[in-house]
Amino acid sequence: MNNTRTYLIEALIGLGATLIIVTTLGQYMLNESSRINEAQAKVLSAQLDESMTLYAENCAVCHGLNGEGIGATPALDNPALVTMTFDDLYKTISRGRFDTAMPAWSKEDGGPLSDYQIEEMVALIQYGDWNATGERVVNLGLAPLVPFTTDPNPALFAEVQNLPDGLTLQTAIQIFASSCVACHGADGLGTGIAPALNDPAVRAKTADELTRTITFGNAGTLMAGWSNSLTGEEINAMVTLIQRWDEIPAGIIPAPNVPIPTTAESIALGSDLYTANCSRCHGPDGQGTPRAPSLNVKGLLTTTSDLALQQIITSGVPGTAMPTWGDRMTDAEIQAIVGFIRQWEATAPEVAVPAKGGGGGPPWLRNQTTTTAAQQPAAGTSNSTAGQANNPHQTQQAVTQTTTLDWRILLLAFGALSISFTLIFLGVASLRRKPPKMDKA
Ligand code: HEC
Ligand code: HEC
Ligand code: HEC
Repeated sequence: MNNTRTYLIEALIGLGATLIIVTTLGQYMLNESSRINEAQAKVLSAQLDESMTLYAENCAVCHGLNGEGIGATPALDNPALVTMTFDDLYKTISRGRFDTAMPAWSKEDGGPLSDYQIEEMVALIQYGDWNATGERVVNLGLAPLVPFTTDPNPALFAEVQNLPDGLTLQTAIQIFASSCVACHGADGLGTGIAPALNDPAVRAKTADELTRTITFGNAGTLMAGWSNSLTGEEINAMVTLIQRWDEIPAGIIPAPNVPIPTTAESIALGSDLYTANCSRCHGPDGQGTPRAPSLNVKGLLTTTSDLALQQIITSGVPGTAMPTWGDRMTDAEIQAIVGFIRQWEATAPEVAVPAKGGGGGPPWLRNQTTTTAAQQPAAGTSNSTAGQANNPHQTQQAVTQTTTLDWRILLLAFGALSISFTLIFLGVASLRRKPPKMDKA
């Protein structure tokens, strides 16, 4: 009786072990096709990964950050290209388009890309992720630079040519749209940071006065001198425009409205550059010090566009300690700093508390103690509305979560494996022990 029971139990254990082995094997076999798919997907994703870098290095200047096209250059994130045949796309990229700005890319046609790399570009256009591509372009510092410029309204711009000295006015309008609009506003009507130039009081000024301001800037204000970047003739054209602005049709120069593109990496770069170059004057959190004003304050951030910030940092503030950073940093680095500073806007205080004496010691000391705490977890919670502002923190959290999950899965798998091994061992042992038991009975 006792023996039959042990026998039964042993048989059951053996059966269980067999079942486990069979199901494991079965699942392994069932997964075979999905594993092949996975391998193919891996190849494709490696190709797509490389193609994003190739795109950033070779194509983004003309086809745009996210393949959206720039000006007359067509978009590549175009559904019509996804359905184009592989061969047609391959030929377009390898040979270029005759008599257009689209160059030939294959080595055979004198270009820099191998056949395999051209296949990768086709893969990008047909299967790629344009948002991820845009991030790659920004991270490599190869974003087509956001121009300060806004394009003048073409119909109104054409009208200006019929005015006396129309060509001079047109030149000035183009310069204004590329160099002045970020601060002096659409149609020269002014912004929160710079006065209107399209204004009777300014028109009343003498040409000499205006020329002097534009050439040398006004010390101690955001108005930098332009003698290094504009010729005497161009400055004269600006003076003509300012004095005759009442003749210029309204709506000709729109406001620049292009936010500087950012990614987690570009913001991290901006943060490093800020710490290395700006924090000693503007404070570690932009709260200001006795040496320089606060940047982390609502008033400044809401009235100053990304492009204006970029221009201020590039040109500096004449006659003050604020250096001309355009001489020592690339445009991409300055844009990274602007992206970093822009993050503060969501949580910027209404009133700056600069680091000047007062009670309780210099505020930047207080801020430093909160910095470490605030920059890490608090940034994730306190500006949960800040959108892109806390993206880096979110991704970091996500990464750590998946890592712990991976560990648990590994542990589970290890546990399951050891249990099934024990069962197999028991099953085999029971089979071996059977004959002697039978004999005894
Ligand atoms: C110097 C600017 C320039 C660069 C750099 C450039 N392209 Fe082009 N590309 C163009 C222009 C302009 C056209 C439109 C040609 C035409 O009018 O047919 C074009 C067209 C194309 C088209 C056809 C689009 C369509 O709708 O028919 C593809 C595909 C393309 N480019 C891919 C690429 C790839 C991939 C790269 C990088 C390896 C690249 N281009 C780099 C300027 C450029
Ligand atoms: C970074 C911002 C910024 C940029 C860019 C800028 N300005 Fe200014 N500009 C100012 C500020 C601020 C003032 C007021 C200075 C003051 O208070 O004395 C000013 C003043 C002026 C004045 C004097 C106005 C008056 O009331 O007397 C002229 C003229 C002028 N700017 C022309 C230009 C021109 C032309 C350009 C482009 C080539 C330009 N500015 C670009 C910020 C800027
Ligand atoms: C040596 C000290 C110093 C350093 C370093 C410095 N700045 Fe400044 N910055 C100033 C001063 C002083 C002003 C105020 C000028 C004025 O009187 O308008 C200023 C003004 C500014 C403004 C305009 C603020 C406003 O309210 O109009 C911006 C933006 C700015 N700095 C950004 C930066 C950035 C970004 C860096 C680092 C790349 C930097 N600064 C490095 C001293 C400095």
